[in-house]
Amino acid sequence: MSASQKMLVTYALPYANGPLHLGHLVGMIQSDIWVRFQKMQGYHCLYVCGSDSHGTPIMINAEKMGLSPEKMVTDITEDHKRTSQRFHIEFDNYYTTHSPENQKLVEIIFKRHMDAGNIAKHTITQFFDPIKALFLPDRYVKGTCPRCHAKDQYGDYCEACSATYAVTELENPVSALTGATPVQKDSEHYFFKLPNYENFLKQWTKDNHLQKAVTNKLNEWFDAGLKEWDISRDAPYFGFLIPGEDKKYFYVWLDAPIGYMASFKNLCERKKELDFDEYWRAESDVALYHFIGKDIMYFHTLFWPALLHGANYRTPTAIFAHGFLTIRGQKMSKSRGTFIEARTYLEHLPPEYLRYYCAAKLSDKVEDLDINFEDFTNRVNADLVGKCINIASRTAPFITKYFSGKLKATLDEPALYQTFSKTGDDIANLWQALRYSQAIKQIMLLADLANQYIDEKKPWLLIKDPTKRENVHAIATVSLNLFRLLMIYLKPVLPITAIAVEDFLKIKALKWQDKESPLLGHVICEFKPLLQRIDPTHIERLTMMTEQENKPLQSATTSTPAKPMITIDDFNKIDLRVASILEASHVEGAEKLLCLKVDLGTETRQIFAGIKSTFQPATLVGKKVVIVANLAPRKMRFGVSEGMVVVANDGETLWLVSADDKTPPGAQVR
Ligand code: MSP
Ligand code: ZN
Repeated sequence: MSASQKMLVTYALPYANGPLHLGHLVGMIQSDIWVRFQKMQGYHCLYVCGSDSHGTPIMINAEKMGLSPEKMVTDITEDHKRTSQRFHIEFDNYYTTHSPENQKLVEIIFKRHMDAGNIAKHTITQFFDPIKALFLPDRYVKGTCPRCHAKDQYGDYCEACSATYAVTELENPVSALTGATPVQKDSEHYFFKLPNYENFLKQWTKDNHLQKAVTNKLNEWFDAGLKEWDISRDAPYFGFLIPGEDKKYFYVWLDAPIGYMASFKNLCERKKELDFDEYWRAESDVALYHFIGKDIMYFHTLFWPALLHGANYRTPTAIFAHGFLTIRGQKMSKSRGTFIEARTYLEHLPPEYLRYYCAAKLSDKVEDLDINFEDFTNRVNADLVGKCINIASRTAPFITKYFSGKLKATLDEPALYQTFSKTGDDIANLWQALRYSQAIKQIMLLADLANQYIDEKKPWLLIKDPTKRENVHAIATVSLNLFRLLMIYLKPVLPITAIAVEDFLKIKALKWQDKESPLLGHVICEFKPLLQRIDPTHIERLTMMTEQENKPLQSATTSTPAKPMITIDDFNKIDLRVASILEASHVEGAEKLLCLKVDLGTETRQIFAGIKSTFQPATLVGKKVVIVANLAPRKMRFGVSEGMVVVANDGETLWLVSADDKTPPGAQVR
């Protein structure tokens, strides 16, 4: 694979049907590392994504939540965007497939295929839910397996005997939506004639755009014979209407990959220097890379290149498929208690640790990746912090303390430095080839070398001998230069730590080429810890939290009716703050109230809180609680109450909503 000067990279568009989970993050991290590596090499690389906003499950979920699908996908898209940012995934654009740009592109591509005779119409028979008046996608039909007679099997696949069959073959089918017996109903559908592209696709497959395992899979599909693809769905549906129809929509998987183009188009509208056609015209020499998970290969390697090619657009330069994330060897699933939402992870652990762990485990193969939290802790603590970061913490203090923060003007170990910078070329090749675990291995081997060097030289002993001062200067300068190279190599994985290192070394943003020249005679800052070791209690809490989240809701939460939806603006009106309880006392003559004095950082407030039934005043002092800080003061019989303490309750019992011990009073809660 050769890197072209300009490139566009995409990651598969997550469904706007729920929050991001760690599985989504694996692919986002893989592609983000690659993009950041390209940028460090000086290439012009753009990176787009967005949410996949159409389809029956989204329509049904929105209905369950009492929202319009438009509103739901807008909110979820915003949430995905923010969550990915918190993991430092640096998308140039995070858009949605439910956009005017996408609709326009879908119509153009459809029309071109229509004109070229690539679209057929056939009448097909499907299950229809008579109560919802809705054609049922396969996964919304349950029944008895026609082969082994196992009960309660979904759609067209039996989990008990692995048989596949037509959904209409299921015995005793029921609609998973309403429990009604579905009826069979005819409807006319649009089909994309994929077989027209068999020769083109066979050639395309041979041209080195794909990993070996993917090519093998494609050859299996070719052997089985390509089939026409149903690209329409009947109303009610959340999607784009097919031109000329008033009750038929494009199937979500038709407009989803076109969403890559639309996200880019939207970026072009904001960045006028970008030219959409330069990237997407048939003869484009910009490289186009799609990162995806292994479950969606068929769509990306068959339909997508055929759709593009037949509509006179360019085809992908390469498609990279990654495996699935498993947790302690188990598939991520709520019922197994192994489903980890991205934001739950973030409540307990820093984003860069997940980035590092993924890098340490990812390869260019379509293999699953397992998170085992012991291994996770060990790699972060022993390798990343213990080996790498430690090089700086072991040697930087000498520079600050004895040499006024200035590195020596010459480099004493040119050969060692040379080894590090030469290995950097191998590491670059490994990042480029997506062989991340190998890259990390090389980096850790180098870190071992650097530590050995320090161990042998023993600067902590030399410093005691005034005649050896200059040796220590040399050793620390060499060590920090080795550390700097390691941070160049790790920068695609640890972008935030890299910035902290740049600040510490007082240098400009590190580029890959910087490895060629050492940093000498240069003044650096005092070393401050860059990354903390993982405290095992954080892992325990994450595991506990995951278990709680995976449990079905308890009666306490379901018996209180949910309040009506509010907008983010409504929510933003409430000023929630962390407050530290300074004093708590009984109130003469009050049955339910306690009087609290709380520290809000910049001021102290008095609050009368209705929590006497559950709390002894003495147990409250020193607790960090959450208060509504902008509640209008209320004059009570006993005095003025200047805010409200937030508590959890189930109608009887109260629990404090408390903040972590370290949270400063006055910190905003949102
Ligand atoms: N909306 C489609 C993609 C359309 S692309 C034009 C979709 N969405 S998804 O939300 O189900 O998945 C988004 C991405 O996350 C896909 O690449 C998928 O493979 C990946 N993953 C979803 N669950 C995953 C794991 N458990 N592990 C790793 N990746 C996973 O598919
Ligand atoms: Zn079966």
